[in-house]
Amino acid sequence: MTVKKQVPFVTFRTRVRDESIEGPNPYRWEDKTSDDYFSGKRVILFSLPGAFTPTCSTYQLPNFEDLYDEFQKEGINAVYCVSVNDAFVMNAWAKSLGLEKVELIPDGKGEFTRKMGMLVAKDNLGFGMRSWRYAALIENGVVEKWFEEEGFSDNCETDPYGVSSPQNVLETLKAAA
Ligand code: BEZ
Repeated sequence: MTVKKQVPFVTFRTRVRDESIEGPNPYRWEDKTSDDYFSGKRVILFSLPGAFTPTCSTYQLPNFEDLYDEFQKEGINAVYCVSVNDAFVMNAWAKSLGLEKVELIPDGKGEFTRKMGMLVAKDNLGFGMRSWRYAALIENGVVEKWFEEEGFSDNCETDPYGVSSPQNVLETLKAAA
């Protein structure tokens, strides 16, 4: 019997806007856990090497945003993008792309990514430890479908992108419906 993988329980340190805070930076810390993001929901999670990097910023994240309504039609309650970046960087990335639908999850210390088994070295790019590209269909915290780019490795010279694209994930969901 195959035991399905449960997402790890992690606390993420997010920054949320709070209008009661005066001054030029009206944000406060808000801790969110894996339960907050995954419990009782059917979601798509995708992960990538870093905020603001070209493929992620030009294709993967904007395309997930554009296809969000299509994912909703397939019964998806939320689409999350996780990256080993802190909350300040992830918020700035969301703002730069004008995101309204996809939610960004800051995995600044890489704990979630490491416990998912997806942490790789990207020292060759001066990045340190980051996430291998993958996407997953997760139902109530349990991984039901897994989309991992080929060649999982440290300091990979290439950056495969295809299996974890929103187009491929959506096609797979539609085919299984
Ligand atoms: C990219 O998304 O294009 C990218 C990701 C990691 C390193 C360099 C580029």
